[in-house]
Amino acid sequence: MTAVDSISGKAKVAGVMGWPIGHSRSPRLHGFWLRQYGIDGAYVPLAVAPERAEQAIRALPALGFRGCNVTVPLKEIAFRTVDRLDETAWRMGAVNTIVVAADGALEGGNTDGFGFIENLRAEQPGWTAERGPAVVIGAGGAARAVVVALLDAGAPEVRLVNRTRARAEDLAADLAAVGLAGGVTVVDWVSRETALDGAALLVNTTTQGMAGQPALDLPLRALPVPAVVNDIVYVPLETPLLAEARARGNAVAGGVGMLLHQARPGFKAWFGVEPQVTAELTRFVLEG
Ligand code: ATR
Repeated sequence: MTAVDSISGKAKVAGVMGWPIGHSRSPRLHGFWLRQYGIDGAYVPLAVAPERAEQAIRALPALGFRGCNVTVPLKEIAFRTVDRLDETAWRMGAVNTIVVAADGALEGGNTDGFGFIENLRAEQPGWTAERGPAVVIGAGGAARAVVVALLDAGAPEVRLVNRTRARAEDLAADLAAVGLAGGVTVVDWVSRETALDGAALLVNTTTQGMAGQPALDLPLRALPVPAVVNDIVYVPLETPLLAEARARGNAVAGGVGMLLHQARPGFKAWFGVEPQVTAELTRFVLEG
């Protein structure tokens, strides 16, 4: 690894904005790549309260930032604040990557869905979205990114299952409003087990199974064994859902790769190098 121990006055600067931000692994992730590629650059945590987020985002060009990532709970504020939105961010209703354009305008993108798909492809190279119905558990921001990405990648059907049905209905309505009406079916929480019938992919986007949380309450009996199971939770790396799926013969994909892959487009845009996701990077990010 080429080590750059300090940065110069010409360093390219980016960061991650969120509230709170102390637990974000993105500074470690981008810091690893900056050192690996010997780039004169910095990627800093930006703790910004929601009520000041618009002001902070608008200040990026004045401060000379190349851009920044945006994380919870600021992605929707960023969506409303940027000057231009790409197609994906528009459909996801949220911005996680801001690039300051040459003319000083703020360009908003969303790479969460890209990260999700790239992780599945890396972990399970045989998987394709066209292969069959996908079951998505949850109806928060992560679920929205996952559903948009799956439909874009060619999934024939997405079954949306959430404990609170109304939130899944709201998400389906939001997706219909951005032209993604076809292909999404809302399933009642009580019917979640039968929703697995004939599925080719199961994705947990809820916080269930995260360290300190109970396991996702979802019997897998009806899930075909060729189906791939993905949990976006990555602490622990192997959630109870993934352990159970693996034990019954399903192929599994963990969640940390989504975080790593979603970072690639921003790094490329700010620092000019297409970064690689490697086992060494994964270990380094998880250690922190
Ligand atoms: P994010 O936007 O990051 O996806 P979120 O909006 O907090 O996070 O969403 C968390 C998801 O976990 C929701 O789908 C939530 O279901 P509800 O809409 O019913 O709250 C889901 N969730 C949280 N606790 C749950 C539980 N005990 N059982 C099932 N789902 C749960």
